[in-house]
Amino acid sequence: MSILLTGGAGFIGSHTAVELISAGYDIVIVDNFSNSSKEVLNRLKVITGKKIHFYNGSILDKVFLNNVFYENDIEAVIHFAAYKAVGESVEQPLKYYSNNLTGTLVLLEVMRNHHVNHIVFSSSATVYGMDNISPLTENLKTSATNPYGYTKVMIEQILTDVAFANKEMSVTNLRYFNPIGAHESGLIGEAPNGTPNNLVPYISQVAIGKLKELSIFGNDYDTPDGTGVRDYIHVVDLAKGHVAALKNNLKNTGSAVFNLGTGHGYSVLELVKTFEEVNHVSVPFVIKDRRAGDIATCYADSSKAKEVLDWTAETTLQDMMRDSWRWQSKNPNGYQS
Ligand code: WQD
Repeated sequence: MSILLTGGAGFIGSHTAVELISAGYDIVIVDNFSNSSKEVLNRLKVITGKKIHFYNGSILDKVFLNNVFYENDIEAVIHFAAYKAVGESVEQPLKYYSNNLTGTLVLLEVMRNHHVNHIVFSSSATVYGMDNISPLTENLKTSATNPYGYTKVMIEQILTDVAFANKEMSVTNLRYFNPIGAHESGLIGEAPNGTPNNLVPYISQVAIGKLKELSIFGNDYDTPDGTGVRDYIHVVDLAKGHVAALKNNLKNTGSAVFNLGTGHGYSVLELVKTFEEVNHVSVPFVIKDRRAGDIATCYADSSKAKEVLDWTAETTLQDMMRDSWRWQSKNPNGYQS
């Protein structure tokens, strides 16, 4: 029996692959490399000592995906494959609805054809929208402020409805907060295409000299130092959360939802200062206007994952910054180098 990782060559998927193999699972990766690199598979082989069984293709291609299920005894799916750039989703909504929603619908149809009833979905804290107050709990109303966020809200609903209709289904929606960091080897990490949208890859590229300075989007928020506060979680802790969630999913039916965050918020300035201190580098910055769509504060109540999954994030901010820098400095051009 194998675990299928759609988008398994991506940032979260590749780190989850390492932890699944370490936990004794056999895995199969499906990825079209639209936002990842085939080089990841070579790096995974070095880290795990195992040749990765993978298929290069899109989950939108039903014939291709059917074949993956024919050729492998899939027990469960961890569904990472999706576009995830908030700004791009506003400019190109149809690209996001088509890829993220249709891809999920094709996947669910193929799973049904092959009687595969277990799925763990890569959702996001973005589903909490702008109006909920942190710490955020799983029972809060979901909403979104952009097409990317709406695809996460909609897919959670699709999966919940499918689990309600098919009593053999087991669905787990995992709401990630802000994944950062990299595997301790520095062999895999976050490799955004072009200029990073997210804070930590941007900080890393300023520190290495690829970018001139960091623009801090607003220092007039109602937070301790005026800059945005987020729940940054180490990607390896997040990956271990997937293993814990998969074990729970395989033992149950119905639908479940869990926050995967640390339960603690850090500000932009705290990250910059910590990054500089632990890595002995400089991160010059300028204060700019707030970024549209940003909220002041967002962090998890992660008690449900602790109680039900016996999982908590353990990595300190210092280690998250250290691991981010190790990845960046060993791979100045991501996987292209
Ligand atoms: C973090 C903080 C910015 C960049 C996004 C998506 C979310 C999820 C995680 C996929 C904020 C500030 C950032 C910069 C800055 N992605 N910032 N200068 O916006 O919390 O979440 O990524 O699921 O869906 O919305 O993350 O890293 O972009 O921003 O000042 O150059 O850093 O204002 O306060 P965010 P982020």
